[in-house]
Amino acid sequence: MRFAPIALAAALLIGAGTAQAQDYPTRPVTMVVPFAAGGPTDTVARLVAQSMSKTLGQQVIVENVGGAGGTIGAARVAKADPDGYTLLLHHIGQATAATLYRKLPYDPKADFAPVGLVTDVPMTIVAKKDFPAKDLKELVAYVKANPDKVTLANAGVGAASHLCGMLFMQALGTSLTTVPYKGTGPAMNDLVSGQVDLMCDQTTNTTGQIKGGAVKAYAVTTPTRVPSLADLPTTKEAGLPTVQVAVWHGIYAPKGTPDAVTKKLSDALKVALKDDMVKQRFNELGTEPVAEDRATPKALGDYVVAEIDRWKPIITAAGVYAD
Ligand code: MLT
Repeated sequence: MRFAPIALAAALLIGAGTAQAQDYPTRPVTMVVPFAAGGPTDTVARLVAQSMSKTLGQQVIVENVGGAGGTIGAARVAKADPDGYTLLLHHIGQATAATLYRKLPYDPKADFAPVGLVTDVPMTIVAKKDFPAKDLKELVAYVKANPDKVTLANAGVGAASHLCGMLFMQALGTSLTTVPYKGTGPAMNDLVSGQVDLMCDQTTNTTGQIKGGAVKAYAVTTPTRVPSLADLPTTKEAGLPTVQVAVWHGIYAPKGTPDAVTKKLSDALKVALKDDMVKQRFNELGTEPVAEDRATPKALGDYVVAEIDRWKPIITAAGVYAD
């Protein structure tokens, strides 16, 4: 009897939590993008957020929290209230940061409640438009002969551009001066204006610039060509078979978010991935939505674990770390 009030209070709290999850969302949801506005992650997030807003009946507002290769924004979400009102849309960096950072202020496996995978984006090796190399073979020869002269832009340690740049330098056995940005949106501006020489970046950020002739493109980093950039050879075709990476994106809530909430978000994500507006824009930008069975909490949770294991030996062999 003495414990009855406590039991009652607990039952009421559980009941309130269930009711909250059923009503969710009753106010706008923030989707943190851990890179600058106008870049590839931002592009994917804004398309998906627009569609999810319709399904959820509340605005999903994208907030850009760039810096430190995506780890500042991810840390913000890891520490947010687990109520479903703060989400993270991050990419492969969620897995690679686990090895790249000696002191990561969060645990990518333990501190998040996965919602689902979104897309796998090919990357492209691009240069400022007057860069003196007409194809990948010439680019490799030029970089090897002039490593001190060539600058390579990226979005910080943990960014996809950093990872791809690392594979590129590893393949050439050379080291270039890297120029870090808060995202490849601003990095692309400097590439177009010729302030940096090279970048490896996602098609969601490069396709328009390649087609408009604002940058020179050498190869795509996927095993097969990308239909929207069909003239561009793969790195394998062009002679750099080890520079292979596709940038998977996923949505996360903080650990402790009720399952009913992550399920609702995953269901809204599945609708977004079938939305014609999303499919068409993804297609124009050289990517496509993942299959429905990957847009689930379990699929993303398993994938993060598998990707941490897959990249660990590659990053360790490259010997690249950040504090
Ligand atoms: C961005 O949105 O700026 C990126 O995804 C950067 C990157 O990871 O290279």
